[in-house]
Amino acid sequence: MEISARANNSSSFNVLIAAAGSGSRMGDICPKQYVKIQGKSILRHTIERFLACPGLQELRVIINPDHRGLYEEAVKDLSLPPPIAGGIDRKTSIYNGVKSFSNLKNNEYLLIHDAARPFVRQQEIINVAGALTMHQAATLAVPVADSLRHTEGSIIDRSDLWAIQTPQAFHYGVIRDAHEHADPKKEYSDDTSLVSARGVDVAIVQGHRQNFKITTTDDMEMAEILMCGQTTTETRTGTGYDVHAFTTGSGVRLCGVDIPHDKALSGHSDADVGLHALTDALLGTIAAGDIGLHFPPSDPQWQGVDSAVFLQKAVELVADQKAHITSVDVTLVCESPKIGPHRESMQQRVAEICGLLPSRVSVKATTTEGLGFTGRGEGIAAQAVATIQLPVKAHHEN
Ligand code: CTP
Ligand code: MG
Repeated sequence: MEISARANNSSSFNVLIAAAGSGSRMGDICPKQYVKIQGKSILRHTIERFLACPGLQELRVIINPDHRGLYEEAVKDLSLPPPIAGGIDRKTSIYNGVKSFSNLKNNEYLLIHDAARPFVRQQEIINVAGALTMHQAATLAVPVADSLRHTEGSIIDRSDLWAIQTPQAFHYGVIRDAHEHADPKKEYSDDTSLVSARGVDVAIVQGHRQNFKITTTDDMEMAEILMCGQTTTETRTGTGYDVHAFTTGSGVRLCGVDIPHDKALSGHSDADVGLHALTDALLGTIAAGDIGLHFPPSDPQWQGVDSAVFLQKAVELVADQKAHITSVDVTLVCESPKIGPHRESMQQRVAEICGLLPSRVSVKATTTEGLGFTGRGEGIAAQAVATIQLPVKAHHEN
């Protein structure tokens, strides 16, 4: 093996991601590549690292066909070619993937990567692909840092030892030939060993220890810690307040629920004072103005509209910032109608509109003991608080 200098050019390359394993060393959980960290499967984290990489031509994922449902969920909204069916062991899986790229010319570049290494960095991908301008095969690797000894006590000199990682990069003709001629009785734990068996030199490109392969539950714990460290979030809170006056009518809509009453609420939309306050609270968490800014009362298209539309818009704006709503809390202030009998349906409806579990949605009510405009039955007031977790961008842009 030859140690390669860092390459900075960005050569174009294709990628195979090996994700057809069962993760047996992880124990009794769903296959490790589909375990979610920070709301995203490990496989998706890995794929996204490559999709963001300049020079990528095509990326194909090798999966176990029994995991099709898990796979579809993991890659939702990504535009990828259909997955390749894997095989009984990693070598068979990769061979299937290599054959699927038979459109490639012998000197085109193919990178092979384990789905279970979601921490690979863009520069490392570029470096290992770049090594192919000088070599026919290359791999990322890190020098072995720990002392090594056999169980019976003899010491292994680690000074010349490398721990081999992926991605491994190959001229297509070389990796195809190596798989075609692989000894069926031999076990190969990575693709450079197949290529070396054909007498091809493999360049070593020094990588980073962070690009470890998630193999055991210890590794999974480490992955969670690392991933959380990479996306720190901050808590944001917003408040909202709204009032609508009573008018003649036979019912009101509050927090999305229609309640028969001897009056109605006047307003341009459906006058759902609870959802209006909550919409403002959510807009407040991301400093996105207020409901009147997004839905001007002067605009006839909002006449009589279901206020769920307003709340949905605020939820979307929060999601656009990649934020998660942690909780919402609405207080309705009125003497009548009585809110208690409808509280649970309101909680369900708000949860449904916001895409939250009902346990994260609170709806409460109070009277003002006969005091003020609500006490005199002239209208209903509502106040709301919303809390979100917003990812903190580098350099505190937000
Ligand atoms: N892999 C594969 N096809 C197989 C076996 C493994 O595509 N038949 C993939 C895995 O999904 C993983 C990578 O090769 O991303 C490295 O393999 P490994 O870490 O050994 O994963 P598993 O085989 O899934 O785990 P284990 O060996 O603990 O069962
Ligand atoms: Mg394995």
